[in-house]
Amino acid sequence: MKRESQYLVARRGVLQAGAGLLFAAALPPLPAWSASPDHYRIAAAPARARLAGPDRPETDVWTYNGTVPGTLVRLRQGEPTRLLVENRLDQETTVHWHGIRLPNAMDGVPGLTQPPIRPGESFVYEFTPQDAGTFWYHPHANSLEQLGRGLAGALIVEEREPMAVDRDLLWFLADWRLTEEGGIAPRFGNRMEAAMSGRVGNTVTLNGRASEAESFRAGERVRLRLVNASLARIMALRFEGHSPVTVAIDGQPCDPHEPAGGRLLLGPAMRIDVVLDMQGEPGKRYAVIDDFYDGLAYRLTELAYEERPPLRTHPLDASLDLPRNPLPEPDLATADRHGLTLQGGMMSGMMMRGGVMQGAGMMHGMMGMGGGAAWAINGMSMTGDGHAGMEPALTFQRGRSVVLKLRNETAWWHPMHFHGHSLRVLSRNGKPVPHRQWQDTVLVAPKEVVEAAFVADNAGDWMLHCHVMDHQMAGLMTVLRVD
Ligand code: C2O
Ligand code: CU
Ligand code: CU
Repeated sequence: MKRESQYLVARRGVLQAGAGLLFAAALPPLPAWSASPDHYRIAAAPARARLAGPDRPETDVWTYNGTVPGTLVRLRQGEPTRLLVENRLDQETTVHWHGIRLPNAMDGVPGLTQPPIRPGESFVYEFTPQDAGTFWYHPHANSLEQLGRGLAGALIVEEREPMAVDRDLLWFLADWRLTEEGGIAPRFGNRMEAAMSGRVGNTVTLNGRASEAESFRAGERVRLRLVNASLARIMALRFEGHSPVTVAIDGQPCDPHEPAGGRLLLGPAMRIDVVLDMQGEPGKRYAVIDDFYDGLAYRLTELAYEERPPLRTHPLDASLDLPRNPLPEPDLATADRHGLTLQGGMMSGMMMRGGVMQGAGMMHGMMGMGGGAAWAINGMSMTGDGHAGMEPALTFQRGRSVVLKLRNETAWWHPMHFHGHSLRVLSRNGKPVPHRQWQDTVLVAPKEVVEAAFVADNAGDWMLHCHVMDHQMAGLMTVLRVD
């Protein structure tokens, strides 16, 4: 008994120390908080941002409440929220709350779940987040350009009991293609790019700016929420001299584990929460490297230790387990089984003629592909952002357990995102995966076959698409219906 109460006191002390610092070091000053923490007013509007560094020109961006990333939305698990979104752009928009399980009408897909928000108009999103964790929000109209010009923000749903850490930090990562003059490079939706890796940029920002270093104190324990808000860039992060422990993926807690090879693989739209015990030496710096693309490794930032002596000598002795969210467990024995095959894109040996892709390989099995499409799912290409009258590829009876087999026949990586549900990843290429993580965005390697399961408990028509925005716009998208 005695032991336990001492432990609890210590734990509370840690939490209080952490609470005051929450995000303080990680985020620019917070814009436009509304009076009530559960009510937000978010305006999509143009602004300027200094993305590439103090000595580089400013960039014209599109923002939520004037900053990049947009206003940090912090919600409480199980408590209703209301978010008023105003459109001050000169084109239609919507907001999608990525990874949040919510009623279909609040999902933000134009045509499919709501009419688009026209310039000068607004829309009220109301929902009660069931799951605590790290999520994000972004437009679902003209997505490639709107996200590419900066419209994105983090959405954190707090656990009822915060985790015992000294600081809770957010690294909101985004990838920009900037010109010499600091502008956003034009020509979104280049057809050749759309059939390959998508619009990978040339400047990666951490909380809205290229980062030289992030400051840490020796001995502290940090929860680091990583969000990859890139249009196309896949990341594989290594923390020199440190061993991050993954505690949640896509907002869903998992068995705490060190990632394979010490690399955190983060496809576009994915989130990983890690716990980092800062066991480096005061005054030293350690690089954080992204080496996903062969020969294109770069330093994302450095962990810069303050000179101050360590906060504690031994790592904090507290649990790394986050409380599980109330996700229904699929019954694999009785589940309905369905397949989704990803097709298209450029392949080795493909020919380009007059800007149009040609080749037997690509065209094979793509009868449904219309103009501008480069990709298909089960032979059908839905292009753009979502619109009225999209026919579902699959229909599930509400409450049924479903096992989906995702078969990537293409030569490219695809972060496949499911709206309205989280899926338990069961196997890759026939081999059971450790930890069976819940994910809303499943990164599928070239030629890989992934099996994932869920309970189709959320009624409505739900988008399923690749989160490489060029791929989505060029046909790697479909609709799943829960009746
Ligand atoms: Cu994060 Cu359909 O999107
Ligand atoms: Cu989503
Ligand atoms: Cu893709």
